[in-house]
Amino acid sequence: AYVVTEACIKCKYTDCVEVCPVDCFYEGPNFLVIHPDECIDCTLCVAECPAEAIFAEEDVPADQQAFIALNADLAKIWPVIVTRKDPLPDHEDWISVKDKLQYLEK
Ligand code: SF4
Ligand code: F3S
Repeated sequence: AYVVTEACIKCKYTDCVEVCPVDCFYEGPNFLVIHPDECIDCTLCVAECPAEAIFAEEDVPADQQAFIALNADLAKIWPVIVTRKDPLPDHEDWISVKDKLQYLEK
């Protein structure tokens, strides 16, 4: 499955959801996740993300490994999102910030 990592936090561009053929993105207050049991590994979402937040599970960077379980867990409780919306208001300020896991709202 593909995995959304911390670059999405506080940006949430949502371009990714428009291309997913199986509608497996789920939305929280300032982050999206992919349901690992629903993702069919089509790769289409990867190039859509301006923050380059999406990786194949086997390619998730070492410092982002916690996001594999976070995607699986949060996809069970957050609502599905299938239509693009405006990114979060301060997305330009946050797109290049590191260590954003501390800001994740659930
Ligand atoms: Fe959806 Fe394809 Fe991305 Fe998986 S890889 S989340 S199926 S767009
Ligand atoms: Fe997040 Fe990128 Fe989608 S910032 S909402 S994973 S387009």
